[in-house]
Amino acid sequence: MPSTPAAQPIISEQSTSDSAPVVLAGATGALGLLIAHHLRQRGAAVRALARPETRNSAEATSLRVQGAEVVTVDYNNPADLARACAGAACVVSALSGLREVIVDAQTRLLEAAVAAGVPRFIPSDFCIDYTKLPEGSNRNLDLRREFSRRLDQAPIQATSILNGMFTDLLKGTAPVVLPGPRRVVYWGSADQPLDFTTMVNTAEFTAAAALDPAPPRFLRVAGEVASIRDLQRAAEAATGKAFKLFRVGSLKTFGKVIKLTKALMPANDDVFPPWQGMQYLHNMFTGLPKLAPLDNERYPGIRWTPVREVLGASRQ
Ligand SMILES: NC(=O)c1ccc[n+]([C@@H]2O[C@H](COP(=O)([O-])OP(=O)(O)OC[C@H]3O[C@@H](n4cnc5c(N)ncnc54)[C@H](OP(=O)(O)O)[C@@H]3O)[C@@H](O)[C@H]2O)c1
Repeated sequence: MPSTPAAQPIISEQSTSDSAPVVLAGATGALGLLIAHHLRQRGAAVRALARPETRNSAEATSLRVQGAEVVTVDYNNPADLARACAGAACVVSALSGLREVIVDAQTRLLEAAVAAGVPRFIPSDFCIDYTKLPEGSNRNLDLRREFSRRLDQAPIQATSILNGMFTDLLKGTAPVVLPGPRRVVYWGSADQPLDFTTMVNTAEFTAAAALDPAPPRFLRVAGEVASIRDLQRAAEAATGKAFKLFRVGSLKTFGKVIKLTKALMPANDDVFPPWQGMQYLHNMFTGLPKLAPLDNERYPGIRWTPVREVLGASRQ
């Protein structure tokens, strides 16, 4: 696989709208919309794929207003996907879902991209480094690993973007920084370095990677690497108030709590049930999926948003 030293900035192709489009699956999603925006800012032509149920959504309208071509596809229809991929420079997937999306729909999209001779493919990974995690430790990342094995067999340049946890989740979804009781909650060690990147920074970087003619197999970024103690300092700086650390227990105990939560509240059809979020945190606290080396400097001009700034921002 071609690879570039992390320290050497790469200027990605500044495509004009006349050049080969970037196909973006899941373009109406939270991350997809941001990737589309940053692709357009870089002058790229964007072919946004939307299922029939979202083709007339506000998000699809926003994509059209930004100058993207919105193409309706049924991910079960190879002819739709072949038409969607024709003449593209890169296929980017920001799809979200379980097996039928991450493995099945992405495989059909990959097959269409290969058949159309598309040179590059970016799967919907956008996570911690699943290549270093044991099978079974995170249901959603197992699906990404399974798809990556198919991707690695395909005659196409694959590039996964690994960004740790979206920093935005620290504002509520991830039960770590609790503004009410002013506690930073954790399991295991308060000194374990953890990777955080905002959704916007992830989208900016992904747009640049989509226009990079020779990206490596993996690109790793972190807007900030922060331990639990760093999160405590960031929360205090953001709010001007004191936060205490609260260690709930060991990672072994956390593992047992996850198993119990899964048994009591399986919600297996949910993409992000509580136990899956706990698996993600458990993975991060082990340090196994820590991103290294970081490729933050590969594309110049990206300003990495620190955790403090996200914690200090008012809720939308
Ligand atoms: N690292 C982190 O902390 C973190 C956190 C959250 C998400 N993520 C990852 O970021 C990526 C994007 O997530 P997101 O939050 O932007 O997702 P999202 O807002 O739920 O959007 C995902 C898109 O996937 C498409 N989709 C949903 N169900 C589908 C199905 N059954 N078949 C085909 N397409 C389907 C939809 O597009 P259409 O309806 O337009 O076709 C939807 O707009 C995912 O890989 C997700 O796991 C990472």
